[in-house]
This record gives sequence, C-alpha cells and structure tokens, in this order.
Amino acid sequence: MPIVKKGFVDVLVGLQWGDEGKGKNIDELLSHGTYSAVARFQGGANAGHTIKKDDITFIGHIIPSGCLHQNIELYIGNEVVVDIVSLAKEITELKVLGFNVTSRLYISNRAKLVSFMHPFLDKAEESYRNKNTKSIGTTSRGIGPAYSDSRSRRGLLMGDILSDDFSDKVKNLKEFHMNLLDMYKEKYNFEYSLKEIEEAEKKWLDALNIIRELKIYDLSFLINKRLSEGKNILAEGAQGIMLDIDFGDYPNVTSSNTLPANVCLGLGVSHRYLRNVYGVIKAYTTKVGGGSFPSRIKDENLEKLFQKAGNEFGATTGRPRMCGWLDLFALRYAIRLSGVNKIFINKADICLSEKVKVVTGYKNSNKIFEEFPLRLDDVTNVITDEIPGWGDKNFGVNSKEKASKELSSYLEYIKNKLLDLEVSIVSVGTGPAREHTFNWDK
Ligand code: IMP
Repeated sequence: MPIVKKGFVDVLVGLQWGDEGKGKNIDELLSHGTYSAVARFQGGANAGHTIKKDDITFIGHIIPSGCLHQNIELYIGNEVVVDIVSLAKEITELKVLGFNVTSRLYISNRAKLVSFMHPFLDKAEESYRNKNTKSIGTTSRGIGPAYSDSRSRRGLLMGDILSDDFSDKVKNLKEFHMNLLDMYKEKYNFEYSLKEIEEAEKKWLDALNIIRELKIYDLSFLINKRLSEGKNILAEGAQGIMLDIDFGDYPNVTSSNTLPANVCLGLGVSHRYLRNVYGVIKAYTTKVGGGSFPSRIKDENLEKLFQKAGNEFGATTGRPRMCGWLDLFALRYAIRLSGVNKIFINKADICLSEKVKVVTGYKNSNKIFEEFPLRLDDVTNVITDEIPGWGDKNFGVNSKEKASKELSSYLEYIKNKLLDLEVSIVSVGTGPAREHTFNWDK
C-alpha cells in the first residue's frame, strides 16, 4: 500500500564546517508558519545555535532552534547524543526568559545518553591523539565517546532513564569508563581528577530529576502521526556537511552523519516525506578545530578583522574560528552530497578587503584535484578567482535593489558557478536581525 502523504519534512543543514548562522534562517523559515515542529536529528551539545527574537538572544546547544516560537513543537531524535546537564540548563534558562518548553519538547526514547564520564574520555582521547599524531580539537562535550558507546552497544538510551535497573546500568558503565580512564592514565600519562568526576556525576544526577519529567517517547511514531495529520516538520542539522563522519576530512570531523540522508535514520521517518533541502553558507568560510583548511586567509591581520567583524568565536567553546575565503570547491562537493536545492547566504555584509578571493580548485605539486580529496593535508595550494569587494556598504540591506553593485556581482558569480547543480539562492543575510535579509532568486 502506498503511503498517504499529507505533511512533509524539510531539512536545513550547514554546507561548510559549521557555524554558518543556521539559527537565523530557521527563525526566518518558521516565521512563514509552514512548520509545526523543529527536529534535531544528529549531534549533541557540541553545536552552538544563537537564536534571536526581538531583544532576546539565546544560545542553545541541544534544544532545537524553534524554542523561542511558542507554538512550535521541539523534537530530539534517536541519533542525537543527549547531554542532559546542558538540556536541563537550557530548559531552566528558557523558563527564566518566559518560554516554557517542557510541554512541547519530545525526546526519542532511542536517543543516546551522554554520560558524565564521556567528556573525561573525550579529553583522554584528545591527549592520546596529541601524543601520537594531532588532536582533532573536539568541543570536549563527550560526543565521540558517546557515539562509540552507542556503536559498541554498551551505551545508555534516553528510554533507560525510566527503567527500574537504570542505577545499575549507570554504575556498570561508569566502572567500564573508569577502567578506560585508568588505561589512559597508566599507559599515556593522562591526568584526571576524581573530585571533578564526582562533581560531574552529581550535576548529572541532579539534571536527571528535570529530564525524567520530560516526554521521552517513541518519537518516530509521533512524527509519523503528525505527518499523517498534515503537519510539516523542519529537520535542523547541527555542525555542517564538511564535518560529516563519512564524507568530511576524516579524522577531523564530528562523530555523526551531518548529511540530510541521516534525517530518515535520525528521526525514524521515510525518505518519501522529504521535500526541500535548505543549505546555509556564509559569504566566507570558517573552521574551528584541527586539520587543514585550504581556503584560510593567509594575511593574519585580515583574518583577525574577519573574526572581529563576524564575531567568529565558538558559541560552545569560545575558541576563535579560522577564517577563509568562500570555498566553492568544497561547497560544490557539499551540495552534491546533500541534495540541497535552496541556499541561504549569511553575513554577506562582511567584506574587509578591496578584492575578495574565491577558491575554485585544490592542487598540490602533482595534480589539480578533480574531486574533494580523502585527506585535506594532501592539498598544498588553491586555485582562486578574484572579485571586487564591497566594503561596509551593505550592512542591514533588506532588498535586492539596495544591494551594492559589487555585492550583486558576487552573488551572481556564485549563482553561475553553481548553475549545473540546480540550486537557487533564496535569501541573503546582511546583519544579525531578522529584517537584515533580502530575497535573491525569487
Ligand atoms: P566534536 O564534535 O566535539 O567531537 O568535535 C569534532 C570536530 O568538529 C572539531 O573540529 C570541532 O571543532 C568540530 N565541531 C563540532 N561541533 C561543531 C559546531 O557546532 N560548529 C563548528 N565546529 C564544530
């Protein structure tokens, strides 16, 4: 029997290395009234979404971005690794701001629990990597260890919280993790503090009291019910396509699949419901953490100007982000993988040099790369185009007609370079406020 499709699922993902400003575009999409829910389908509290509404600014790590829209349901899917301390903190902070999310937050009973031991293991693994090769520069939120436990089938699920033997499960897993930490200590001189572990455990157990009261559900069932009622859902990607565990610059990636293909697995919904895939980019590129970054701006002073103008400091870790030119070579790869059909370009007002470079290809002494390489370390040089810059003329521009001719040429250039991929540029951001935006292709 064919599925009777009533509602649909749209997806929004970042097409670069994360931090594309997705929160603002989600807010824009929600303002059209099309969706009844926003769903996180991967990642954990490694994300940092800055969400603004009127004069309220909220930085969320784990709660879905629709939290400041009172009528929007919030879903946390089964492929998310849930940091319950962050979640409890965000729920409390939102309550103080006047947003009670508990009545509209639904968490999959199959979502993975981040244990209080995972951040310690994350640091231990980073210190081990640092000794052998190079660290990844993780967010220290325990993401890798939580996904490892899930794949090794020893991890805890959200649904376990409600079971009678939950305390035993927590105790057994802690014992296993302590053995691992001791191994890192004995073999690789990793130092950890028992006091810090005790404190983390206490915070985690305290958070459980709030989490137990939430709706921990068969989320796939609920989502399919909502779709059959004709409701539409926006699936929200965290991180970015270039950090995908399978298709990014391994091992300098996160531990989940960030591709829209993971929406089906991460929410328990059939691909038949998928409709638009929105991809978000900045007019330039940023990256945090380890690994090569081919389009990085070589002039240190100019990079600092981008960091300052774009507030390019991690919302989760506070680390300064490396800044680079728009990397069309990586972007074409990301679009091909993710099937994006509509693009948002953010921070298009930021232009700090007379000429703007755009990376169109990668090369090394042997070859020009035809496709995105297995390892970015193999890239020693980039091929670039140069385009006239637009200075500070475009801040806050809210219509296509008001955009300066240089910015318009830049956007036209990007559009032409992506023509064969059949994507349209839906809107262009020129500042942090909702009204600092203009439509381009429609
Ligand atoms: P993890 O996800 O904490 O394990 O970190 C792995 C890599 O992904 C590191 O290079 C992080 O800097 C990067 N990363 C993880 N989450 C984000 C994000 O939300 N924005 C940007 N980079 C991220």
